[in-house]
Amino acid sequence: KRTVSIIGTGSYVPERIMTNAELEKLVETSDEWITTRTGIKERRIAAEGEFTSDMAAKAGLNALENAGITAEEVDLILVATVTPDMFFPSTACFVQSKIGAKHAACFDVSAACSGFLYAIEIAQQFITSHTYDTILVIGAEKLSSIVDWSDRNTCVLFGDGAGAAVLRHRGGGHGVVSTFMASDGGLSDILYIPGGGSRFPITKENADTRVNCIKMNGKETYKHAVTSMLDATNKVLADANLDPKDLACVIPHQANLRIIEAIAHRMDLPMDRFMINLDRYGNTSAAAVAIALDEANRTGRMKVGDYVLLVVFGGGLTWASSVIQW
Ligand code: ACO
Repeated sequence: KRTVSIIGTGSYVPERIMTNAELEKLVETSDEWITTRTGIKERRIAAEGEFTSDMAAKAGLNALENAGITAEEVDLILVATVTPDMFFPSTACFVQSKIGAKHAACFDVSAACSGFLYAIEIAQQFITSHTYDTILVIGAEKLSSIVDWSDRNTCVLFGDGAGAAVLRHRGGGHGVVSTFMASDGGLSDILYIPGGGSRFPITKENADTRVNCIKMNGKETYKHAVTSMLDATNKVLADANLDPKDLACVIPHQANLRIIEAIAHRMDLPMDRFMINLDRYGNTSAAAVAIALDEANRTGRMKVGDYVLLVVFGGGLTWASSVIQW
C-alpha cells in the first residue's frame, strides 16, 4: 500500500479581530460568560468583499509554498466548507482559478466541521489507488455570513478562516496510519441551517426570519461532541495499535475548551498534549482543525516520526479521526 504523507500545511485568517467585548455591545452577554463556557476570547471576521474562496486560496498557496511545490503540480483540489461562495460552481473551482492549478480536478466536500478530515480520507484513497499523486485539501469558512448576530446562543462561538494541507505519496514509511469517518443523520436537527436549500428556499416572506442562519441545540451538541470524538479516537488508536500515551500531539476540533478538557480527561492525557487555538479564532468549522494543524506544524510541535491524532465532530452529525505519523 502507498503511504500518504502531509508534505506541507498552510493557513490564512482575516485581519479583523472581533473581541468578546465587542459582542457585549451586540447581544446580552459578557466576556466572563463566553470565556468560562467556551474558552473563546476573540475571533477573526472576513471583510465584506472577502469570500470563502479568497481565504481558501491564500491558505492553499501557503501550504504549497510550505511543501515546496507549484500549483501546476496539483492533481485534485478538495474544499471542505459549509459556507461555499455559491451552491455551484464549487468553491474548489474558484480556488483553482485563483491559484492557477490548471491541471487539477475540483470539488467540495460537505460534512460540516468534520469536512477537512473527510477530505483527507478522500484524498488518501485517491493517492493509495494511484489515481492522483498530489492533492490540495482545504478547510475554509466565512461563518460570519451565516451567523445570526442577534442570537447569543450561537453568535459568540464562530469565526472565519482557512487551513490547508498538501498530500502526496512520499515513500519512507511515514504518513497517514489510520482514518475513521462516521455519521448519524438522525441527529440532523441539533445543528443545522434550515433555509436556503431546496427544502426551504429563501422567499420575500421569510427573508428576514434568519432561516439561512445556524440553529443549534448547544447542550445536545456538546454531549454528542464528547462521545463521538472519543469514539473516533478509540477506533483509530485500536486500528493503529497505539495507546493515547503514544500520541505526541492531539489536534481536536476547536469548538469549546470544555469539550477538549473532557476528552483529555477521558484519554488520561495532560492538556499540554492538545493543540488549542480556539481562544484566538473561535470555532471556524471545517477550517478549525486545518488551521490548528498548520500552527502545530509551524511551531514545531511534531517531530519526524511522532504520532499525531486529528479528531473532529460537526453537523450531520458527522465525526472523524486520523492518526498520522509525522
Ligand atoms: N451569553 C450569556 N448567556 C448565555 C449565552 C451568552 N452568549 N448563551 C447562552 N446563554 C445563557 C442561556 O440562555 C442559559 O440561560 P438560562 O439558564 O436562563 O436559560 C444559560 O446561559 C446557560 O446555557 P447553557 O446552554 O446551559 O450553557 P452551556 O454551559 O451548555 O454552554 C454552549 C453553552 C457554550 C453553547 C455549550 O453548550 C457548547 O459549547 N455546546 C457545543 C457547541 C458546539 O460545539 N457547537 C458547534 C459544533 S459543530 C460546528 O462547529 C458547526
